[in-house]
Amino acid sequence: MVVGGLRRLEYRGYDSAGIALPSGGDLLIERRAGALANLEARLDEVGRERFTGTSGIGHTRWATHGPPTDRNAHPHRSSDGKVAVVHNGIIENFMELRAELEARGIWAESDTDTETTAHLVALAHAGELAGAEDAKGDLPAAVRAVVRRLEGAFTLVVTHADEPDRIVAARRNSPLVLGLGEGETFLASDVAAFIEFTRHAVELGQDQIVTITRSGYEVTDFAGEPVVATPFEVTWDLAAAEKGGHDYFMLKEIEEQPTAIAHTLRGHLVDGRIVLDEQRLSDQDLRDIDKVFVVACGTAYHSGLLAKYAIEHWTRLPVEIEFASEFRYRDPVLDRSTLVVAISQSGETADTLEALRHAKDQKARVLAICNTNGAQIPRESDAVIYTHAGPEIGVAATKTFTAQIAANYLVGLALAQARGTKYPDEVVREFEQLEATPAAVAEVLESLGEARALGQELAPSKAVLFLGRHVGYPVALEGALKLKELAYMHAEAFAAGELKHGPIALIEEGLPVVVVMPSPKGRAVLHSKLLSNIQEIKARGARTVVIAETGDETVRPFADHLFELPAVPTLLQPLVATIPLQVIAAEIALARGYDVDKPRNLAKSVTVE
Ligand code: F6R
Repeated sequence: MVVGGLRRLEYRGYDSAGIALPSGGDLLIERRAGALANLEARLDEVGRERFTGTSGIGHTRWATHGPPTDRNAHPHRSSDGKVAVVHNGIIENFMELRAELEARGIWAESDTDTETTAHLVALAHAGELAGAEDAKGDLPAAVRAVVRRLEGAFTLVVTHADEPDRIVAARRNSPLVLGLGEGETFLASDVAAFIEFTRHAVELGQDQIVTITRSGYEVTDFAGEPVVATPFEVTWDLAAAEKGGHDYFMLKEIEEQPTAIAHTLRGHLVDGRIVLDEQRLSDQDLRDIDKVFVVACGTAYHSGLLAKYAIEHWTRLPVEIEFASEFRYRDPVLDRSTLVVAISQSGETADTLEALRHAKDQKARVLAICNTNGAQIPRESDAVIYTHAGPEIGVAATKTFTAQIAANYLVGLALAQARGTKYPDEVVREFEQLEATPAAVAEVLESLGEARALGQELAPSKAVLFLGRHVGYPVALEGALKLKELAYMHAEAFAAGELKHGPIALIEEGLPVVVVMPSPKGRAVLHSKLLSNIQEIKARGARTVVIAETGDETVRPFADHLFELPAVPTLLQPLVATIPLQVIAAEIALARGYDVDKPRNLAKSVTVE
């Protein structure tokens, strides 16, 4: 059961894996560097039947402190062999704690920050931790005493050889959810781990400690005061977390985009008005906004660039977009009339969470766009729109990107409606156009044969460049990111107008350049400028891959490969134009022999800064 749960969570980290089970007064522990398959092979070697018990913990790691070796794999054990701990996050004061342990003659086995917590819990449980003598024999009290001494982000799950009937966990910053089964209770970073057994879940808040037994759970804060936790039902089932006949989750998720967008829009137009999922801001609050900041990372950031185009166009509010990791370190100008839109698939990204907290400290209002019900970012926000894309298991974001674009546009429309910068019928018309895009996306998905073939052809290339203008620029950025993360290929995107200011020097004979063309029916000037750019690169030997609206014959003479997209309004073009780029990146990666679900060095949820 523990290994099965890890299999469903492997997308969160896959440097190494391990499990620990209390058994007959001892702890059985196995850990292996590399993919979960290595741990499974080890368990087969020693005999899986040995690993039976009533409780167990497990972990897949994304290394922060110490390389991904067997020795650094979790769970980590105390030197008396009694306590095992798995941990997500970073314990910032671990050097100091380790020195304190060494002074007592307790030496670390691994290079990790985690191991210190195992020794400390064991000391507290033995009544030997100064100031926590009353925790003797009381595992929850021992964990409480230890977390109070830790700094940084730490979600810990602890088991004790002498306490096979309970597991204690503490949560700060990294995600942790509880699953309530029949005569069994689960803890995991994500509901996917236990969805096979139950859809009844409970959110755990920041700085809470939970003790689980087979029949239930108890939650307290770090001081031991009882806390009431909020139960929720998971809205998707096991099938959503499985590959459903596809070789890879990512390929399935690319195909799920029409549904992801449609589900994200569903229920947001009620009696001709846009409504959010959770709104703790009044229309007056929205009218008082005089500036918007969008903060996000990676793919979510690219979707945020599109939020800027839509919000500025529809509301005339100035919008700034910034990498969440940069935002709070440069003293941005924020006050109570600033709206900060935090976009995050996981809702747990440390950079975005910290940016949001910084904004709140400065009294700004925060609106979250998130794909994970009850995650920390929506919990700490004043308003929320969920992208109902369902679980995204492929590490590279695909369906959540297009769902985020749809959600961003809902934010733009909600602001335009509250501020009166669009008439109600105009808001409805924009919404209806959005609602029509899943069909256009489905049309693109049906004609991807050529994109697949091109992926195979481009696989030996050393680098690929991407060009776009206006809303095509974020699409180009996203195309390049997909290629980097999946195919480990050098890929760069430029705003096409920047080409002549330097990047054109990169163009050489045969270099593939992907160009995202705007619609010829949109702003004529944009189209003609990009058409000139294609000719400029073609004249210098580039192999041009052009993504253009169907019927745009002007590009044909300059396109070595042409992908035709259904006609949609300008702001919606990214929803269709991104699809071939996702597929080309996946095909190149597959042709190069890489696992598109688990690209090297990446983890789905980046819960450390
Ligand atoms: C790219 C990718 C990452 C994430 C980024 C933000 O394919 O998956 O760039 O988009 O780490 O993650 P969330 O959206 O969970 O905050």
